[in-house]
Amino acid sequence: MYTKLLNKYSLNEAVTIIKKGGVVVFPTETVYGIGARINSNRAVSGIFKAKMRPADNPLIVHVSDKSQVNYLVSDIPDVFYKLVSAFWPGPLTLILKKSEYVSDLVSAGLDTVAIRMPNNAIARNLIKRVGVPICAPSANISGTPSATKFIHTSPLIGRVNAIVDGEGCEVGLESTVLDITKEVPVLLRKGYVTKEDIESVIGKIDVFKTGDKIISPGLKYKHYSPKTNVVILRGSEENVMAFYNKHSNSVFVVPPYYKKLLKEKNVVKFYESGDILMGANNVFSLLHELDLKKYDIIFFVDINSKGVSEAVMDRLYRASNNEIIEL
Ligand code: TXA
Ligand code: MG
Repeated sequence: MYTKLLNKYSLNEAVTIIKKGGVVVFPTETVYGIGARINSNRAVSGIFKAKMRPADNPLIVHVSDKSQVNYLVSDIPDVFYKLVSAFWPGPLTLILKKSEYVSDLVSAGLDTVAIRMPNNAIARNLIKRVGVPICAPSANISGTPSATKFIHTSPLIGRVNAIVDGEGCEVGLESTVLDITKEVPVLLRKGYVTKEDIESVIGKIDVFKTGDKIISPGLKYKHYSPKTNVVILRGSEENVMAFYNKHSNSVFVVPPYYKKLLKEKNVVKFYESGDILMGANNVFSLLHELDLKKYDIIFFVDINSKGVSEAVMDRLYRASNNEIIEL
């Protein structure tokens, strides 16, 4: 398949391709998405095929306007309005009961639908001009790291009709996913919008834990894995240093306060001091870039604490297949 490379000045072409039922990669503020119009099963099938996504993993429906939600869902709970006025447009996806309008292909046979309104001018313009919502999972081959820069979308060249260059994604982590069909809403995927942010608007929520009955099909798949093995390290700088000395052909991604280690070769600073948001923005780029360098192992020092770092580490635990070494 020939893939057209477009940018914000040639959005007209992207609109035409999507209207005709094509598949287009476009930027959002979280990660790049791979989209097709919701009301064509042929178009939506094209997404599953292009990213080799299992058919039982549902898609997020992207809207440009709140009013589009009305025909996508069969019921709107009160918390919806509070959440939308606090966080939309932005990186929060809400799960609601779906209407007939949403095909089983989009919802993967579930009776719910995931919806979000992106806060990115290219994405919103695209949806608005296509005139119907756009279904879009992250623009990566299933199981590999998400794309946060135009260059990361290159594995999809030859597999989609067009890719729109929108430079880097502002947030760099996929949206937070919250199921609001339950009496007490359940956080299914951590993201830039944190549990604390949500609770400050609607009160106590639950968090999905591994071992709970799977309600978000995507949670059961291997995720975000580069070709190089990723391993998480937990320990003091001293212990990590001793471990480092025994692993020469590997790379170490460490927090800014591991000052001694940062003077060594093959050691990369995860984020600048006090700027964990930069870590969120960097995590997929690091996975893509370090993967190209053919190290034996990519080691990440665990930086888990409250807030956005939890979402960052969630991606890394999964990239490592939960391979964690306590030092
Ligand atoms: O930031 C994002 O959310 C990006 C951009 C492109 O918007 N999209 C994205 O899509 O990350 P995807 O498909 O890679 O991840 C969507 C997650 C999957 O884990 C999927 O299983 C879950 O949302 N999901 C979708 N529909 C669902 C539903 N009805 N019930 C529960 N989980 C759902
Ligand atoms: Mg994804």
